[in-house]
Amino acid sequence: MSHNNSYILGIESSCDDTGAAVIANGRVLSNVVATQEIHREYGGVVPELASRAHQQNIVPVVHQALRRANIDKNQLSAIAFTRGPGLMGSLLVGTSFAKSLAMGLNIPLIEVNHMQAHILAHFIKAEEQTTPRFPFLAMTISGGHTQIVKVTGYFDMEVIGETLDDAVGEAFDKSAKILGLPYPGGPLLDKYAQQGDPKRFVFPKPKVSPLDFSFSGLKTAVLYFIEKETRKDPDFVQKNLHDICASIQFTIVDYLMDKLKNAVAETGITEVAIGGGVSANSGVRNALKAAEADYGWTTHIPKFEYCTDNAGMIAMVGQLKFENKDFTTSDIVAKARMKF
Ligand code: KG4
Ligand code: ZN
Repeated sequence: MSHNNSYILGIESSCDDTGAAVIANGRVLSNVVATQEIHREYGGVVPELASRAHQQNIVPVVHQALRRANIDKNQLSAIAFTRGPGLMGSLLVGTSFAKSLAMGLNIPLIEVNHMQAHILAHFIKAEEQTTPRFPFLAMTISGGHTQIVKVTGYFDMEVIGETLDDAVGEAFDKSAKILGLPYPGGPLLDKYAQQGDPKRFVFPKPKVSPLDFSFSGLKTAVLYFIEKETRKDPDFVQKNLHDICASIQFTIVDYLMDKLKNAVAETGITEVAIGGGVSANSGVRNALKAAEADYGWTTHIPKFEYCTDNAGMIAMVGQLKFENKDFTTSDIVAKARMKF
């Protein structure tokens, strides 16, 4: 029996999901996420509640990750954790836990940038996903992020475009909220959009520099449009829900694709990957797949559990850094804002 396996534990606590995962040889053996339902009642993430929930969840989540991977904590080779970016109170929980566990086990500690991890999630070995080749473009789209990154190597990344205000997931969620859908409304808006006419209503696409994004104007446009129509017909939203959702989704997806096309034109790179929770959107997936035939791109969409916030991607980065012996010292501190 081989004993050469390096088991790396990954810990994620940047926002409202507490995650722990074990990876060995690029394969994720366990990927546990405790999603905090408490925020639903408030229609958004409440930082103080998130921090408290992480404190309650972290020990059971880590135990479960070890149990599902069928290993003992003494078999771990290193601990990787999300240092940032994210909510400070949330990051502190994962950071302190990772530090004390690494110290207790006397094994290396590895810091991970959450945004790099979303991109490197593509390198997890899983049947359901394909691995991009360098150089590639990665568009990270979620409730917290909207970026286009030029990826030249595992740790050679350059942000070439990003949102100037809201993240794209917020644009989905805030539009859904205006329509009276429960938080987070993105997935529901997507569901209704699939039964509607995307060309029925037209919303403006904000004009900013070619690779950057802006979503705050869209939310305002949706709000004014709904207010205006509701004054004429109080049942406007109920009567036209599918078409409204389809039209909003069409506008957002078209905007994302415009930006990707600009990035491809600017860099000459046609290998394109996406990540983040909004990668689950049916419109985004269809548009990206269509670009393979339409423009000759090679596209990559991770398995859904590696799109949303998860510790599998943190463990993946942990493994890459472990191979490079890129360890950190135990005086490391969490960082809410963090560049690559
Ligand atoms: O990556 P994620 O789980 O958490 C972070 O924000 O980091 O992404 C969650 C976001 C939410 O805004 C949610 O509404 C959006 O992803 N989302 C979707 C869909 N599924 C999740 N938005 C549109 N269509 C979907 N199918
Ligand atoms: Zn994220």
